[in-house]
Parts: sequence; C-alpha cells; structure tokens
Amino acid sequence: MIEELYTAQQVDLRNRSRELAETVMRPIAAKYDVEQEYPWEAQKAIKEAGLSGVWIPKEYGGLGGGVLDLCIVVEEFSRACGGMGVGFAVNALGSFPIIVGGTDEQKERWLPPIAAGDKLIAFGLSEAEAGSDAGSMKTRAVRDGDSYVLNGDKKWNTGGAVASFNTIFAVTDPERGARGVSAFVVEAGTPGYSVGKHEDKMGIRCVPVVEIHLRDCRVPADTLLGGDEGRGFKHAMITLDRARPGVAAQAVGLAQGALDLAMQYTHERQQFGQSVSSFQGVQWMLADMATQIEAARQLVHAAARTIDSGHKHITKISAMCKLMATDVAMKVTTDCVQLFGGYGYCKDYPIEKYMRDAKITQIYEGTNQIQRLVIARNLLREAAGGAG
Ligand code: CAA
Repeated sequence: MIEELYTAQQVDLRNRSRELAETVMRPIAAKYDVEQEYPWEAQKAIKEAGLSGVWIPKEYGGLGGGVLDLCIVVEEFSRACGGMGVGFAVNALGSFPIIVGGTDEQKERWLPPIAAGDKLIAFGLSEAEAGSDAGSMKTRAVRDGDSYVLNGDKKWNTGGAVASFNTIFAVTDPERGARGVSAFVVEAGTPGYSVGKHEDKMGIRCVPVVEIHLRDCRVPADTLLGGDEGRGFKHAMITLDRARPGVAAQAVGLAQGALDLAMQYTHERQQFGQSVSSFQGVQWMLADMATQIEAARQLVHAAARTIDSGHKHITKISAMCKLMATDVAMKVTTDCVQLFGGYGYCKDYPIEKYMRDAKITQIYEGTNQIQRLVIARNLLREAAGGAG
C-alpha cells in the first residue's frame, strides 16, 4: 500500500482493522472454518471497535466513509479470514439499496442499528433459476391494502441466517420485466419469512449462505424502498456497482494474506541445504505475485475513488476491478499452495483455506463472465458515442 495516498482517517482505519484482524480473527479462523458457525466474537469485536458502519453516513450513526474506506477494512479482515471479510462486507451490500434508494424515514429506521453493529442485514436478489439473469426472478409482491404479500424463494443469501433485516427484491408488475421489480426491507421474524437450507460450502465457511422462503409474508407497505414500485432492479444494479469493489478488496486481502504466509514458509523451509526462497524460480514467483496483488489493489482503489467522487459512470471500472482482483486472488492463492508443496495441500497449514475462500470471489456478486459482459457492453456503448 502506498501510504501517502491515504487520508489520516484511512490510515487509522487500516491500522485498527489490521489489529482487530490479527488479534481476534486470525486466531479463530480455522475453528470456524471447520465448525461452519457464525463468529459472533468477531462481530462483537467489530462493533466494539466502532467499525460496523464504516460506509454509513454520519447522520445515521455511521463513520461516513466511502467505498474506499470500506475496501480498506475488508482487505484487512480478509487477509486474516476471507469468511469474516465477507461476513462484514455483506452488510454494505444489504444496506446500499437503503442508502441509494430509501426515503429519509427509511434510512432513519434501518441504518442506525446496522451502523451501531446491533443488527445485520443481507441482500436477497438471487433465486434458484435467477442467478446471472437476476431480472428473471419469480418472487412476487402483491399489494393488499396497507401491506404487500410476498411469496417466493431466495437463494445464495449470504449472512441471511444471522441477519435481522433482508433486502428482498420481488416482482410487483410481471408485465414490465426488470422495470416491474421492487425492493423491500423485510425483518427476520415476520410471519411467513423463514430461513431454509444452509449450503455446505467449499470456502467462506463461517458465513451462512442460505435459502430464504417467503410464504404469504405480509409486510407493511412502507417497507417498499423509496415508496415507488418498479425501481428495485435499478437499485440492485447501482448497489452492485458500489459493492463489487468490496468483493475485489476481499480478493486482494486473501491474496496478500496467502503471500504473507508463503513468504514466511519459503524463508523457513530448507531444501538442498538452503531456504526455499533462495531459489530464483521461487523468487520470481514471489515477485510476480506481489506485483499482481499491488496492481489489483490499485485498480480496486481507483474504482473506489471514482465511486466516492460521485462520478456518474462507475459500472465499467467497478466490474473491471472485481474481475481482475478476484482472478489474481485465485492465481496467487493457488501458487501459494504450490509453494507449500505437500504441506500446502493439507489442513495442518492455513494456506489451503485461502485458496478455498478465494474461489467464491470469482462467482458471487456477479460471476466474472458477467463482469466481462458488463465491461464489454459499456465499452461498446462508449465506442458508439454513449456514456460508459
Ligand atoms: N446502473 C443503473 N441501472 C442499470 C445498471 C447499472 N449498473 N445496469 C442495468 N441497469 C438498468 C438498465 O438501464 C435497464 O433499465 P431500463 O429498463 O430503465 O432501461 C435495466 O436496469 C435492465 O438492464 P439490462 O437490460 O441491462 O438488464 P439485463 O437483464 O440484460 O441484465 C446484468 C444485466 C448486468 C446481466 C444483470 O442481470 C447482472 O448484474 N447480473 C448479475 C447479478 C449478480 O451480480 N448477482 C449477484 C447477487 S448477490 C450475491 O452474489 C449473493 C450474496 O449474498 C453476496
């Protein structure tokens, strides 16, 4: 990291989140990876450190930070544990639709408890048959007097089993395609709302990824985000533009964390009477990895700064940083396992967890195939004289 490019607040955030990651998260990462339980002690530590609402405006109790501040914290957490990194970041994904599209009254209602770390929030967009093609969702919301009645099933709901609120996207007008989608903030415990299957995952195992079932789930009409029907899909897309750098920062943290371990191991490990890191072939691998990580980090930060500047066209650079950083994380973590040799393939060492945790970053919040589609669409639009 190039220190001079950071504000004093960002250096402070980096230092505080690194300290928390090293003292609280790293020591418990392996245990929660095995047990697949939510690490409430990490959540408590984040709350006590005052980091829960980094991205939430100050008037709603947050730190008033931007996407760059969020990325700095997510990178540090993920350097110690990818699961705990996303367990934190998914609250930004779930609450960005409120920040982007909620009324003042809705922001006042839902953001302060999230900012304080008292409540967690998830993001319910995907369904079994609507993953990459998010606009084809089937969950319905039908207006009935002062309420909406929700029916449907959400899938891949990260953090959904521990979240008090869930931002649920549902079709209010089936005739209008993506323009007929609306967003609701649904409280866990509402009759008709239930948490279903917990996925048994390759990585990020401390964060529950679950199905959410909605069966005649009646919610007050004032839980419709923004108060207008039909704006949900746009809010989901604007949210993903802001949240994808967070996934990219998770990837940078995982890659950096894996490289840290590989540096230490190749220095200590002796073969042919010398440390493994004294071989030029290994040194070149270390140099390539460090270079790729720094390039990814700088693109993530460029994307975050562009978003924070209020720039109108953020979709392409957001997708680019997610694509690049997550591909780097997969390559770097795989190469780090290689540097550990046979030990890297075994759970006695923490390195294989980095490779398992990295894989999902190429998949969630839009697969990297979808990122390429988004980048190409924007490139072609720019070439045709439109805005990217
Ligand atoms: N910003 C603002 N508006 C946008 C937008 C953006 N970035 N992208 C699209 N829109 C608008 C369009 O302008 C259009 O609006 P109009 O109808 O008013 O013109 C509308 O949204 C529909 O756009 P498209 O026709 O481009 O939509 P599409 O059906 O072709 O799909 C897509 C576009 C990019 C492929 C989109 O479906 C997508 O991003 N898919 C991936 C979904 C995804 O990332 N899912 C992950 C969910 S979260 C998760 O992983 C789980 C978790 O809990 C972490």
